[in-house]
Amino acid sequence: MENYMVCNCKQVSHFDIVDAMQKSTHFDDVLLAFEDVQKLTNCSTGCGGCYPKVLDIISEIMQGNVR
Ligand code: FES
Repeated sequence: MENYMVCNCKQVSHFDIVDAMQKSTHFDDVLLAFEDVQKLTNCSTGCGGCYPKVLDIISEIMQGNVR
C-alpha cells in the first residue's frame, strides 16, 4: 500500500490515519472514530477540505479494506 498525504494543512498521511485508527476506541461509529483520529493527528483542523476524505478513509478501514 502506498502512503500519501491526506491532510495537507496538518501534514497527516494515510498511514497516520491507519495508525490513529488502531488507537481509536470507536471502531463502530465513523464520526466518533473521526474525533479520535482528529485528536491524535490534528487532521482536518485547518481548512477542513480533507474532511470528506478522512471520513472515507475511516470507513474503508472499518470495512477492513485497508491494513
Ligand atoms: S487539508 Fe486538512 S485541514 Fe486543510
